[in-house]
Amino acid sequence: MHSFGFRANAVVTFAVTILAVVCAMASLSDNFNVPSPTAGVKVLNINWFQKQPNGNDEVSLTLNISADLQSLFTWNTKQVFVFVTAEYETPQNALNQVSLWDGIIPSKEHAQFSIHTTNKYRFVDQASHNNLRGKDFNLTLHWHIMPKTGKMSADKIVLTGYHLPNEYR
Ligand SMILES: *[C@@H]1O[C@H](CO)[C@@H](O)[C@H](O)[C@H]1NC(C)=O
Ligand SMILES: *[C@@H]1O[C@H](CO)[C@@H](O)[C@H](O)[C@H]1NC(C)=O
Repeated sequence: MHSFGFRANAVVTFAVTILAVVCAMASLSDNFNVPSPTAGVKVLNINWFQKQPNGNDEVSLTLNISADLQSLFTWNTKQVFVFVTAEYETPQNALNQVSLWDGIIPSKEHAQFSIHTTNKYRFVDQASHNNLRGKDFNLTLHWHIMPKTGKMSADKIVLTGYHLPNEYR
């Protein structure tokens, strides 16, 4: 007959083993989680498009930003920082990146959203004059995943084929 103490000890050992296996599986599942985020941005309106007194072009847009980033969330995700940039080429720079909007997604429940907004940050071409008229640009949804433990990771979805008008309005 085993003593009560021995059996209790065996039960605790077994429980600790199970816990270790579950933790290892959770950790593996995080590494093997293949996220499949989706995003779409529609330019609903060009509110105005002007040359500023200093010569820089500026445009105001109304956007519909929709995304489903639920698959980025695992047991190890603290929050996700998300931002949309306008990206375009100019003779001066191969890549100009202007941040238009950002947000923090605190949980998986908030990771599927559709936001109707004007650009939160100014869409100004800093580089030179008349750069934005007739400009083709991309809208890129970037995200940074802040984990509970481990390294931050980042990725993006590039949406192509946007175009600014040839004339100010
Ligand atoms: C924004 O886009 C989403 C997804 O395409 C759509 O369901 C929603 O109706 C759109 N909202 C506006 C104001 O266009
Ligand atoms: C838009 O994105 C595509 C695909 O990544 C890229 O080939 C193209 O150069 C980009 N266009 C601009 C204007 O940055």
